[in-house]
This record gives sequence, structure tokens and C-alpha cells, in this order.
Amino acid sequence: MQNCHNYQIEHKDRFLNELFDLLRIPSVSADSTKNKDTAQCAEAVKNALLQAGCEIAEVCSTAGHPIVYAEKIIDPSLPTILTYGHYDVQPPDPLDLWTSGPFEPVVVDGKIYARGSCDDKGQMFMHVKALECMHATNSLACNVKFIIEGEEEVGSTNLGKFLEDNKEKLKADIVLVSDTSMISMEHPSIETGLRGLAYMEVEVTGPNRDLHSGVYGGAVANPITILSKMIASLHDENNHIVVDGFYDDVQELTTAERTALNTAPFVLEEYKSELGINNVWGEKGYTTLERTGVRPTMELNGIWGGYIGEGAKTVLPSKAFAKISMRLVPNQNSHKIAEIFTAHFNKIAPDCVSVKVTEHHGGEPVVTPTDSNAYKAAEKALETTFGKKPIPTRGGGSIPIIALFEKTLGLKTVLMGFGLDNDNIHSPNEKFDVVNFYKGIETIPYFHKYFAEMQSA
Ligand code: BES
Ligand code: MN
Ligand code: MN
Repeated sequence: MQNCHNYQIEHKDRFLNELFDLLRIPSVSADSTKNKDTAQCAEAVKNALLQAGCEIAEVCSTAGHPIVYAEKIIDPSLPTILTYGHYDVQPPDPLDLWTSGPFEPVVVDGKIYARGSCDDKGQMFMHVKALECMHATNSLACNVKFIIEGEEEVGSTNLGKFLEDNKEKLKADIVLVSDTSMISMEHPSIETGLRGLAYMEVEVTGPNRDLHSGVYGGAVANPITILSKMIASLHDENNHIVVDGFYDDVQELTTAERTALNTAPFVLEEYKSELGINNVWGEKGYTTLERTGVRPTMELNGIWGGYIGEGAKTVLPSKAFAKISMRLVPNQNSHKIAEIFTAHFNKIAPDCVSVKVTEHHGGEPVVTPTDSNAYKAAEKALETTFGKKPIPTRGGGSIPIIALFEKTLGLKTVLMGFGLDNDNIHSPNEKFDVVNFYKGIETIPYFHKYFAEMQSA
């Protein structure tokens, strides 16, 4: 692997510049006015994969944003690694909170600032450059396939069908993903689970039109007041979620599992000061690591209604809205939770209003094995480049397609992420350490090598 790493050192500045070219493309999947940019980004990823040594690279159109597929088969008898990542990014707003333009990447204090630097262009591109290093130095140990999608941030709507339609083409031994975080550079870690997601939107309607709040106020229910009360009732005084049946399928951890989870390095004081909060909040009886890793949650993502323009307007609004999402853990099911939530929300609505509940995209929780060759190869690869054995953790985020890799293709996943929790993904000033970017490129070839060795042993 020394040649491979020497090649990386020789070309490291170019690798960073090429990443910058990708980061300059505003491939915001949620914003249809950016569809051209998103399509252009898919082309750029395809070209990068060809340049890195793939024999086949194609942009596959879907009902939504295109999927980039690529492969390099060196020997059909060798194991095949299917690398998954996404080239789409979250919207950059609020724009005024960025220190530099979200699509004008810069390095400040050793960190790359740009939307997508960590989630996931920067991490996905590590795999492209790692392939280039392995290909250029003849050190590829496995066949490689790539799926880089453009709809992860909007729920991977069309990737499920792509998996169904391309089972043969996507045959592999393992899925490798860098789209999660590790604890820190001093404490490398591997996420061994992701939470699922059920995302709901609610609409509360009172009178059939906006009313004068003096003429009618006090006699007609205000949908904002009613919605606020309904929302407030969804957590009890212990911050448990009050939705009938919500916890029914939740898999409780054993005492040993809980102890193991809580041995991960975590300093509560640092956590609080870094977030600017005086205290943490959450479900009674669980630690912060448990609250974000293995417990289901419910979050308000947005709430609106009535007059929010300049000055004052005395109005009793006709409608109020909220976006509410729930993070799910094994063995909860997103559709079942969506149904339970809908029934509950309808049940608690007073008869002076009507409510409408709709379901947005969701995803299922996953746990990845820690006794597999793939996990052991990732563990050994990180130990080789970080000098420390990585610890298994449970991540709080969601990547909906991971459950489908298993369900549709029968493939397990390794989540070898190089981001940090405070990289501001989805927030202003998203960043990714240049060191992490290079460490990733250095570590990935070791994964390939160790995985090949372990699979053939
Ligand atoms: N890469 C993240 C998920 C993630 C981040 C997992 C950090 C673990 C640690 C992914 O791009 C993401 O943001 N997923 C969304 C879900 C999607 C359906 C919008 C999420 O978790 O909110
Ligand atoms: Mn991501
Ligand atoms: Mn994301």
C-alpha cells in the first residue's frame, strides 16, 4: 500500500482542487430551480469515476434526479465492493449565516467550508480518489461498483426501484458507505446503526377564512393555539412520546449493550458548551448517547401559520401547519409509525378544528453486524491509518437506502464515515477537515486489501 499512499501524496493538491470543482455545483435536490446543476453534477461524478479508472460509468436517468453507476471488474473471482454515496446536498439557507459562499469552497484553519463538503460530496469523493490511487499503482484488491445518487436528501425516492431493476448488475459482497461521523480524530469510530425516519406534515383548519381577531377572537378556535397545544401534548413531563403504541416495537438494549454504548468517549460539558446550551434535554432515564443513538424521538422541524410579515396584523388565521419527524429504532416500522401518529393526531384534535395529516418520505432503521469480515476489515483499516482501534457507536441520522440494500439485494453495509458530529451538515458553514479527507483516501485502500484477504481466507 506504500505505492498507493505515495501516489496520493504526489497528487493530493489536485485531489482537493477536483473536490472543489464538485463543491461549486449547487446540486440541491430539494430545489427544482437547481435541476440543471444537479444533472450537471451527475455528469461530473461520472467523468470523475471514468478518470479514476472505471471501465463503465453511466448517468442513469430516473423519474427524479439521475443515479450515477460505475464499475471496474478486475477479476470476477475476487470480492466486489459496492460503494454508495450521494452527490446531492441540502439547501444552503439561511444564506446570511454563512461566512463564505456555500458553493464557493475555501480552506480555513485546515477545514473545507462548503455545502456538501462533508455530506456527502467530500466523503463520496474520497472513494473516487482512493480508486484512482489503487488503479494507478496496480494495487486494486477487489472489484468495485459505485452507486452515487442524487436524491438522498429528499428520501431516495427512485433508488429503491433502481435496485429492484438492476439486481444482477449490482451483485456484490458488501456495501461500503462514507456518509456518517466518527467521534474525533483521536477517537476513530464506526457507526453500527442508523435510525429510521417517519416524516409527517399536519394542517389544522379552524374557520373557513382568515377572520378579524377582534370581531371573532374569543369565540372561534384559533388554529395556531390549538396546534400548539396538540404539539405540546406529544411529550409528557419525562419527555416520553405520548402517541398510543409508539414504543410498542422498540427493541430495548441489554444492560451489557447499554454499558458498552456509554463507554464511548463523551464529555457532557464540552457537548453543552459547543452547542451554547446550559443543559441537555431528553427522555428521562437515558444518557445523551442513548437518546441520540438507540431511542426513538419526535422533533418539530417547522411550524407556521397566520401573519409573519412586517408590523402587526390582527388576524385570526384559518389554518396552522407543522412538519413533524420521528427518528425510529429497531424494530419500529416507518409506515406503521406514520399510521399510529395519524390516528393519534386525529384523536387529540378538538371538534372546533379539523386536521389533515400527510406522510412524507420515510426510511427504516438499520443495525450493521460487528462480527463480519467487512466490519473487521474496516476496523483494521482504521487502526492502520489512525493507530487506534475504532470503537463501534450508534449514529442518530438516517440513510433510508441502507435498509433496502439488505432487503432488495441481500447486502450488508459497513458505515465507514469520516465526518465529525460538529461538521455542521445541513447547517450554515458546513465543513470537512482536509486531514479527514486525506485520511479517508488513505484508509479506503486498506479496507479493500483487508476485505479481499479476509474473504479469501
Ligand atoms: N449523511 C446523512 C445521515 C447521517 C449523518 C447519518 C450523520 C449519520 C451521521 C444523510 O445525508 C442525511 O442527512 N439523511 C437524512 C435523511 C433523509 C431522508 C433526508 C437525515 O438523517 O435527516
Ligand atoms: Mn449524507
Ligand atoms: Mn444529509
